[in-house]
Amino acid sequence: MQKSSYTTFLFSTPINLCYNNIELIYNGGKMEHTKLKIPTHVAIIMDGNGRWALEKGLSRSKGHEAGFEALKRISEYIFSKGIKVLSIFAFSTENFKRSKEEVNFLMYLFENKFKEYSDYLKEKNIRIIFSGKREKPLSQASIDIMNTVEEETKEKTGGVLNLCMNYSGRQEIVEATKKISTLVQENKLRIEDIDEELFNHYLFQELPPVDFLIRTSGELRISNFMLYQLSYAEMYFPRIYFPDFNSEAFDEAILVYNKRDRRFGGIKNENKSY
Ligand code: FPP
Repeated sequence: MQKSSYTTFLFSTPINLCYNNIELIYNGGKMEHTKLKIPTHVAIIMDGNGRWALEKGLSRSKGHEAGFEALKRISEYIFSKGIKVLSIFAFSTENFKRSKEEVNFLMYLFENKFKEYSDYLKEKNIRIIFSGKREKPLSQASIDIMNTVEEETKEKTGGVLNLCMNYSGRQEIVEATKKISTLVQENKLRIEDIDEELFNHYLFQELPPVDFLIRTSGELRISNFMLYQLSYAEMYFPRIYFPDFNSEAFDEAILVYNKRDRRFGGIKNENKSY
């Protein structure tokens, strides 16, 4: 491109940048800025570790290792943006169908590498909680880590990291239904008192609804993740593999979120004339 065409390009193409929760728009020589809306609850399906590794001629384990490193970096960045709750799909109940070798490696990562990460988050005032069934095939060592970390961080107020392990969204709904039915059967709860808020209370964890779901790698599925909490979430499916998901990719995601028009089933004010 010639110098003059560069100048024309610079002045005619809007440039969007995200800085400190502010969108800077450089348009036709003018700089505008808008305060960005920051979602309260972000959920991430960390997909593409295997493909990332395959494309580099590495083993799937190396892909998961790189995914774990990406999780450490990105979670710190996400909390620094003021997001209150971050839910992460770390291991689904269905993931136990994978080869023994792969499952063992993921469990090894959790049992041996997670402590350093959780200690770091604890220092940063982040509460860590777990969603999913704390039972076999999870190892007792993993279950002990979950119970200890939850206890150790329960007073932290800087944000909540909800790690979903041995998690299934359908199972979460079934389990909540069982807990509520038992209370009704024992005359501790009246059927007429069951509403959406009460139901939410009996899920694995009581959390605000998910505002924004990100699934990396370009797959367009929610794979049994947070079915109850995702009902009005905005969804975003960047093509990037999770190990490459970094602060720039997250800033881009926030810009996408800000372009969405969240109506929750209602209509926009200007369209209200009938
Ligand atoms: C999906 O990619 C990823 C997983 C099933 C596991 C994600 C787990 C981690 C990054 C590990 C660490 C977490 C903790 C808390 C220790 P995939 O393997 O399905 O990718 P593919 O579709 O490209 O094969």
